[in-house]
Amino acid sequence: MRLDVVTIFPEYLEPLNVSLVGKARARGQLDVRIHDLRDWTHDKHNTVDDTPYGGGPGMVMKPEPWGEALDAVVESGEGLPTIVVPTPSGRPFTQELAVELSEKPWLVFTPARYEGIDRRVIEEYAERCDVREVSIGDYVLAGGEAPVLVMVEAIARLLPGVLGNAESHRDDSFAPGAMADLLEGPVYTKPPEWRGRGIPDVLLSGHHGKIARWRRDEAFRRTTGNRPDLIERADPAAFDKKDREM
Ligand code: ADE
Repeated sequence: MRLDVVTIFPEYLEPLNVSLVGKARARGQLDVRIHDLRDWTHDKHNTVDDTPYGGGPGMVMKPEPWGEALDAVVESGEGLPTIVVPTPSGRPFTQELAVELSEKPWLVFTPARYEGIDRRVIEEYAERCDVREVSIGDYVLAGGEAPVLVMVEAIARLLPGVLGNAESHRDDSFAPGAMADLLEGPVYTKPPEWRGRGIPDVLLSGHHGKIARWRRDEAFRRTTGNRPDLIERADPAAFDKKDREM
């Protein structure tokens, strides 16, 4: 997969050299290209923002540098990319969207600072490419770079061969399957006793059926406590009699 990021803070994307994403790049599974938006400015101050029409606080990112930058990036590859615009006004970033984006050959991210990018840029590219305005949650960050890191990590771990154990995403919270509507429950490792605390006996029982039941009960308990909205929203058929007795 190819990933381009156009930003005024290229150094903000340095974590993409580390850990899972860094290794995927080193192995050639991900081709990440970071671009400095200011390379497409032509004045001595490398201006990327201006005051908003209609007044109001803050600044708006000018269309010209974004237009030139996106033309250069889009024309540098084969076919057309999917453009992901991080914005608190976008559609929610979910595991489902991460899966969908992980199946695209080429993504271009356009993290903005200030009050966002002049609307005409989005309209212009939406005529040529698949453009997605995406929010990572109901809070406002100072810019879209941190959301890009979040989205790239969620997407990269879904690419074939990137996670060591392909089964590792099977039980993820929000993964499709039998536990689709439940959050992941607690996990334990050695030692069997730590600061006087043991681990649930069932996990030592070797009884796969009982372990599966226990995991489901714990997942159900966590979901009811932390995210009751997930239970309310789910298809009632997703829960069995034992769940309801919890
Ligand atoms: N930019 C600022 N806040 C954001 C958010 N919550 N999601 C995506 N992009 C953003």
